[in-house]
Amino acid sequence: MTDIPSDARVNGSSDRRPTRRDFLYIATAAASTVGVAAAIVPMISQFEPDKATLAAGGPVELDLSKVQPGQQVIVRWRDRPIFVINRPAAALKMLQDPKLLERLADPQSEQFQQPQYAQNWHRSAKPGYGVFVGICTHLGCIPLFYPSPSATEPAADWLGGYFCPCHGSKYDLAGRVFGGVPAPYNLPVPPYHFVNDHVIRIGENPPNATFDFGSIRQI
Ligand code: FES
Repeated sequence: MTDIPSDARVNGSSDRRPTRRDFLYIATAAASTVGVAAAIVPMISQFEPDKATLAAGGPVELDLSKVQPGQQVIVRWRDRPIFVINRPAAALKMLQDPKLLERLADPQSEQFQQPQYAQNWHRSAKPGYGVFVGICTHLGCIPLFYPSPSATEPAADWLGGYFCPCHGSKYDLAGRVFGGVPAPYNLPVPPYHFVNDHVIRIGENPPNATFDFGSIRQI
């Protein structure tokens, strides 16, 4: 790992909040220090494209066969962390549960935070895989991945999703934000498409789609 900012702090004495600039560090920390409750996040470097592609901000590809059911990996696109989750059947069932929907601020994804091809109940091109920009829409922290329901962790009556430790915002496994938390919008969905059954290309729309990532409400 070569891109960890030297001033990054997560634990320890500094009260500086982690920001989007720190995401490589956060991803590693999520695996090593929060791993008791949060799911393990594979190292980003496993999936990093070559440096020329990153520098150009071009599309990056991910082989989904490396992402096991219930697992999330993080790839980097345009210096942003992109969460890619393999959602099993139980998670998809939960995303449609009225008990969850009534707790969400924008359950139908009416705010422009995703391409048209992801404006659906699963906010993705295919239900089994979620692809989100992993930056909290409040102040830019990196939400942590807690995929399993829990009565207490990381918050009471947890249904599975993302928890932002900075100020307590909560998102479900489709990146939809809960009501009554500081974050105002769902997690953004980047442009992407399936190159074949197993490979996605992040940063590029499917043929005939014209989604402009720069036009979303907030990142
Ligand atoms: S930055 Fe996520 S809750 Fe404040």
